[in-house]
Amino acid sequence: MACKLQEFPNILLNLIVIYDSKFGIAKNDKYPFPRFHTDFEFMCSISKQISDPTKRNVLIFGRKSWTADCSLIRRVWKSEYIIVLSRSINSIEGVDYVANSLEDAITHLLLPSASCETENIWVFGGSFIYKLALESDFNCKIFATEISHDFGCNVFFPFQSLPAIKEAYDDRLPTKDIVKEHGYEYTFHVYDKIA
Ligand SMILES: NC(=O)c1ccc[n+]([C@@H]2O[C@H](COP(=O)([O-])OP(=O)(O)OC[C@H]3O[C@@H](n4cnc5c(N)ncnc54)[C@H](OP(=O)(O)O)[C@@H]3O)[C@@H](O)[C@H]2O)c1
Repeated sequence: MACKLQEFPNILLNLIVIYDSKFGIAKNDKYPFPRFHTDFEFMCSISKQISDPTKRNVLIFGRKSWTADCSLIRRVWKSEYIIVLSRSINSIEGVDYVANSLEDAITHLLLPSASCETENIWVFGGSFIYKLALESDFNCKIFATEISHDFGCNVFFPFQSLPAIKEAYDDRLPTKDIVKEHGYEYTFHVYDKIA
């Protein structure tokens, strides 16, 4: 299913990610970090926030990210609409819609029956799906938790796909200070993609 992305200039993709000092997000197909409480609470609360109770948020995952964490995801995000991107699978248990491209996912949300229900779109990764979002025509905001330690990852956040980014201000970030947990330090940032 194809759609002309320039017809939808008001779409904002909110990317949410935690990466290490080398932009690593995963190692050998596994989440490589301890579960950081402040980061996890922030990720849950910001991606659930809605201002219009008749709408709901949409979360987009790559098939590998979904498979890695599907039981946790469905336990935490019970009311959100879940889209998984896959080129090889048409339907997945617990998933509201399986899309064969980012365009397919957005077109699906813009169908008259679905569009009125969407308030925010959250892109949860992994690397392939972040890349699709960053290389698309859509506006992107990146909520990044930056850990100052190298975890030896072999899957990375695709910063090289960005033409340019600008650090932005967002009062929903939990703190400007360094957070220390499990012996590691991390900070919260938000960036806007500059097309
Ligand atoms: N640190 C973080 O913030 C963070 C965030 C998310 C994920 N992760 C971790 O990252 C790892 C997975 O990331 P990943 O980059 O390897 O995989 P991924 O992006 O989650 O999933 C890749 C899969 O997405 C599908 N896909 C890719 N491009 C597509 C396209 N253009 N159209 C349709 N479907 C497409 C394909 O599924 P099919 O093979 O089914 O066709 C592909 O195998 C996991 O270990 C996860 O825990 C970390």
